[in-house]
Amino acid sequence: MPDLKIPVDGLSHTALYTAWVRHREAGGPDPLFTDPLASFLVAAAGDHPALAAFITQMGITSSGFPSYHVVRTRYFDDRVRYALDNGARQVVTLAAGVDGRTTRLPCPRDTRWFELDLPDMTEFKTALVEQSGLAPACERVGVGADLRTDWPAALLAAGFDPAAPTAWLVEGVLMYLTLDEGDALLDAVTALSAPGSHLLLEHLAVSMLGDQGTQVRGGLGKHGVVFTAARDDLEEWLGGAGWRAEVHAGVDPAIGHGRSVAPVPAAWLAAAVR
Ligand SMILES: C[S@@+](CC[C@H](N)C(=O)[O-])C[C@H]1O[C@@H](n2cnc3c(N)ncnc32)[C@H](O)[C@@H]1O
Repeated sequence: MPDLKIPVDGLSHTALYTAWVRHREAGGPDPLFTDPLASFLVAAAGDHPALAAFITQMGITSSGFPSYHVVRTRYFDDRVRYALDNGARQVVTLAAGVDGRTTRLPCPRDTRWFELDLPDMTEFKTALVEQSGLAPACERVGVGADLRTDWPAALLAAGFDPAAPTAWLVEGVLMYLTLDEGDALLDAVTALSAPGSHLLLEHLAVSMLGDQGTQVRGGLGKHGVVFTAARDDLEEWLGGAGWRAEVHAGVDPAIGHGRSVAPVPAAWLAAAVR
């Protein structure tokens, strides 16, 4: 992977860890999904000792909860597919990291899929997709923007159509923004959502900011990664913005496909429509 510029901050590295979890799942018995882009990244990490060391260390920090990330991934896979099956032809992943869904989920050819993340990560991801040789199933548009700034302007400039029903995916990021930034993100998503849009998101449970999360926070802190926000009121929060949400705890067997998920990290998974 000689030409790839690996993003330097720890938060971006959490995306690389998630890819490692997905790669691991794909290689196990009876996987809930496969992720060739994640496998390409992990194979390429062999050339990058710092990246390989980070992934190994995160594996130790998070031992006990990769199953949560597997269940979370499958949960959002199923809900994105449902949105596509029900007319959405525009998908926006906010904080996309190195998520491989554009290269692995079946999506109608006329779908446009925007993947927004910080500029360094977006550059890295675009190069990764190109070098992998994996063909996105539909049009993929990388957008480099910071979710704490005017990211809707960047999305619109990249060709996003606010009149078209959209499937929004917000996975693995709200806990790293402040509550106010999360509120602003929800307002912006809502303002850009035509009727028939879907909003799929994850948030951290409040217990993770207390004793239950001490060990996880300590491990992440070594990488400069800090849980900043959590909420236990997703149905009301989304409802207040006009979204009808169905919410599951990450440990809920109803979404586990037979996997049992460790009680940490405690988190909520929501699928909403408007
Ligand atoms: C845990 S990863 C999740 C990646 C992806 N959603 C997934 O599940 O594979 C967190 C991602 O959030 C991105 N991120 C963090 N803060 C951000 C911000 N202020 N604006 C845009 N992206 C951000 C990081 O670069 C990283 O890719």
